[in-house]
Amino acid sequence: MKKKIFSGVQPSGNLHLGNYLGAIKNFVNLQNGNDCIYCVVDLHAITSKQDPKLLNLNSIETVATFLASGLDSKKNIIFNQSSVSAHAEFAWILNCVSRVGWINRMTQFKEKAGTNKENASVGLYVYPVLMAADILLYDASHVPVGNDQKQHLELTRDIAQKFNNDFSCEGFIKVPEPIIQKEFSRIMSLKDGQKKMSKSDLSEQSRINLNDDKDTIINKIKKAKTDSSAFPANKEDLDKRPEAKNLINIYCSISEKTIENAISEFQGKNFSFLKDRLSDLIVEKICPIGNEIRKLLKDKEYLLNVLKEGNQRANAIAQIKLRKIYDKIGFLNLI
Ligand code: AMP
Ligand code: TRP
Repeated sequence: MKKKIFSGVQPSGNLHLGNYLGAIKNFVNLQNGNDCIYCVVDLHAITSKQDPKLLNLNSIETVATFLASGLDSKKNIIFNQSSVSAHAEFAWILNCVSRVGWINRMTQFKEKAGTNKENASVGLYVYPVLMAADILLYDASHVPVGNDQKQHLELTRDIAQKFNNDFSCEGFIKVPEPIIQKEFSRIMSLKDGQKKMSKSDLSEQSRINLNDDKDTIINKIKKAKTDSSAFPANKEDLDKRPEAKNLINIYCSISEKTIENAISEFQGKNFSFLKDRLSDLIVEKICPIGNEIRKLLKDKEYLLNVLKEGNQRANAIAQIKLRKIYDKIGFLNLI
């Protein structure tokens, strides 16, 4: 059966291998045979401080990354969140449905706000509610994301059910299912196998950016942290070696090999052998995406037109659903 897919990526710069393997690669696989909507979530990006000029550029670059990774702008709706006002409007309503106790449990807020919670933006705190609005506005049945978004999706499901209970409209807001890959949904930093590969890591060496050139990729993999023991002989040993495991995960995710196959390929060899194979593979698969991003960015008009068309298509769906939501709530319809 056809799935209704919705997912979003923040235009906060530095899209990296974790974003690609954890999310965007999945978007591309899902575009065949499903109705897919992919959103540049600029409203989410401003939950932490953004330079306006950079936000503008990063939004365009995110669209370029979607297309360069293989998304088809005709098959899918590709749009930016702030152009469809229903997202912010529905988020307000869901703020009134959600409970403070639920939001207080969100671990990502705790991580991002750090030690100075009093100084975090209110937007960062209610960010998962906006995410729920994004998804529920389109009656999405499935949401492909990396592992870090799992808790936000559970919250989205709770919010959907509570809306239906509060307004006695079972089934009106669809309860979505997450799509989170088993093995490769959490790509770790190249400098610390316990830390997620992240846009906001101050060390450039911690991540492979999708627009890194060949020499940069080779250099980053060469310098990636490993331990001094010989290559693990089985999956259980590998699980105890976070940095080795991460390199193998990246290798398997790109080559679509199983972990067992990779272990037998590298067993008994030293890490430099794995690193050479891995950089060859990343250069072969990721460099063409970077090249295509650079090519697409030369024609900003084209990228803006992709968004304009997507915005119209998304807006048409969102407005109809929002009106129905307003009716359920009891708002007067006088426009
Ligand atoms: P963001 O850049 O935070 O908007 O994330 C976009 C998508 O990439 C989301 O689905 C994230 O879950 C996913 N993602 C981000 N970082 C990683 C990572 N290190 N490993 C796997 N998936 C990730
Ligand atoms: N919160 C997600 C992230 O930081 C991005 C996002 C916003 C999203 N809205 C969404 C993902 C809706 C899936 C569906 O990565």
